[in-house]
Amino acid sequence: MIRTENLSRDFGAGRGLHGLTMHIPKGRIFGYIGPNGAGKTTTIKLLCSLYKPSAGRAFINGIEVCPENSNRIKKIVGYMPDNFGVYEQMSVWEYLDFFCAAYHIPRRQRESRIRSVLELTRSQQMIDYQVASLSKGMTQRIGMAKTLLHDPEVLILDEPASGLDPYARIEMRKTILRLRDLGKTIMLSSHILPELAGVCDLIGILEKGRMLAFGTVEEVSGTVKENLKITLVFDSDPETAKAVCESFSEVQELHGTGNELHFRFNGLRNKIPDLVHKLCAAEVRIIEIKEEQADLEQVFLSVTHQSA
Ligand SMILES: Nc1ncnc2c1ncn2[C@@H]1O[C@H](COP(=O)(O)OP(=O)(O)OP(=O)(O)O)[C@@H](O)[C@H]1O
Ligand SMILES: [Mg+2]
Repeated sequence: MIRTENLSRDFGAGRGLHGLTMHIPKGRIFGYIGPNGAGKTTTIKLLCSLYKPSAGRAFINGIEVCPENSNRIKKIVGYMPDNFGVYEQMSVWEYLDFFCAAYHIPRRQRESRIRSVLELTRSQQMIDYQVASLSKGMTQRIGMAKTLLHDPEVLILDEPASGLDPYARIEMRKTILRLRDLGKTIMLSSHILPELAGVCDLIGILEKGRMLAFGTVEEVSGTVKENLKITLVFDSDPETAKAVCESFSEVQELHGTGNELHFRFNGLRNKIPDLVHKLCAAEVRIIEIKEEQADLEQVFLSVTHQSA
């Protein structure tokens, strides 16, 4: 649904976006992660035709993103920028009605569209509020409602959760999941990692304009060295199990009592089957081997550290 080929925008001195090639299938949530200045907003603006690429191409639903196709792209894409223009003199209703007009939504359909986007974003109670009186969290919700007015298939949200309190973040996550259930393809950027965990089907880690890793959280975690916390439970001689674990240089901070060992595995995740194989060969009767769920923050630090 969103596809880029060597997409680039060079701002000089290494700044911008360099050679981004990726594909986000329909109906997926893609989390675009990177530190400040990594090039997330630049990518998003390229996808929304607000910047011209210096090289490469982007396609949305097979349509090339370029000035000639700009109207077709606008119909498919809902873009929520990282900050909004101010329309302080308007009520929420007037604000949304104004954008309905901008999207050429026929007058007789506007009321039902506005009510439906306010419901999707759980903002019905704000309908008569002055835009000037909205808090940051309320503004984000109304911004999201505005983005949904023309019922776009693809949503591109730049830092949708920035400045929100934990409660509002949970609400934002729920809204995003509701939208995925409606079949939307969603790209959202963030430099706050935990907010993306558990929501995204795919993640991409960007640094200094280059994509360092792309895939499911599991795939990306599988390709980077991690400091995994492992617990091994077994039903045989503890000394043998301990000796096998100690023979792996990746195993650190080994400790435990009786038939349970705890350690950190500081290496590639796909090396763990080697450890299991060696334990079995030494006749360690494994009852359970478990790992703490990969922490997105750890993956991010690990990926960006590797490139430093
Ligand atoms: N219009 C512009 N002219 C010149 N340089 C720009 C322009 N827009 C972005 N840049 C540069 O490109 C790089 C990427 O910026 P971008 O805004 O895409 O980062 P970001 O990942 O969105 O960061 P943040 O998390 O702070 O929003 C930065 O070095 C920035 O200074
Ligand atoms: Mg940005």
